[in-house]
Amino acid sequence: MQALAISVAGLQKSFGKNTVLDGIDLEVPRGSVFCLLGPNGAGKTTTINILATLLKADGGTATVNGFDVARQAHKVRAQISLTGQFAAIDDMLTARENLILIAALRHEEDPASTAEALLKRFGLEDAADRRAGMFSGGMRRRLDIAMSLIGDAPVLFLDEPTTGLDPHTRNMMWKMIEALARDGRTVFLTTQNLEEADRLSDQIAILSQGAIISGGTAGELKKLLPQGEFELVFPDKGQMAAAVRLLQSHNATPDEEALSLTITTDGSVAQITGILNQIQDAQIQVSRFSQRTPTLDEAFLKIISDHEGES
Ligand SMILES: Nc1ncnc2c1ncn2[C@@H]1O[C@H](COP(=O)(O)OP(=O)(O)OP(=O)(O)O)[C@@H](O)[C@H]1O
Ligand SMILES: [Mg+2]
Repeated sequence: MQALAISVAGLQKSFGKNTVLDGIDLEVPRGSVFCLLGPNGAGKTTTINILATLLKADGGTATVNGFDVARQAHKVRAQISLTGQFAAIDDMLTARENLILIAALRHEEDPASTAEALLKRFGLEDAADRRAGMFSGGMRRRLDIAMSLIGDAPVLFLDEPTTGLDPHTRNMMWKMIEALARDGRTVFLTTQNLEEADRLSDQIAILSQGAIISGGTAGELKKLLPQGEFELVFPDKGQMAAAVRLLQSHNATPDEEALSLTITTDGSVAQITGILNQIQDAQIQVSRFSQRTPTLDEAFLKIISDHEGES
């Protein structure tokens, strides 16, 4: 049995002159949560649509559970379920009817009890018999995800599953995704929420300008950044100017208004002690100092902006 749920090599897609995917490679082990991260328009939905056989690639290959998305589309469809960025709910039907419809289409033995169980699991019992067209955004999202779980597909594609959800519902969705992974399903998700990627994913790939520019675990991506920033705040401009002169070699960024100086460090005690000793020897007064480690958000923005700067 092959261990990869998704394997993508040299995938290309253009819309007219707009090259959206310029030869991307991805590997997602079975039973893992994989997150594709990228700014608006990076090609996340395009990638999902190709993998879910809704869109044809111009070049390269992609397989899902060993089946080729171009040549064995019907076999791929039997392996997957897709929750799109824009919901596939029928507004004229109630929540219960939507679920029963999908359960029947997927040949579930008892569509009514499948629907009942999902309504309960997603906290939609009270709204079960109201038309979905009347639902709030969060309720629609929950119903949409509930629909995608019908049929026990081993590979789930979730395109921005938590966009527009309140923190409580988002938390519920996270728990749900974690439970799916524990169940042994493979989850391929996209998000703009770095906290989400950090919490849920085994692997993250960053897509920008048609290419995967970085990949790894959340921890590995954070390591691409300098380990931290060291900030010194001074009582007045004179002290600050003296410190700027003293610390020239440290690549320090002054903020005149805040009377502060930010120095990028490797996070080592030796480097920070060295800086503080220099300040003390020069008898420069400091009101306070602090050390900060980068967040995943900062890592993401820095990786994207470094890449844009290079190309
Ligand atoms: N059917 C289409 N015809 C023409 N251009 C398209 C089509 N679908 C997508 N595009 C273009 O492809 C690019 C990538 O779009 P895509 O929807 O994949 O981005 P995304 O990463 O999902 O963005 P978002 O975060 O906004 O959802 C965009 O420039 C978009 O305008
Ligand atoms: Mg999208």
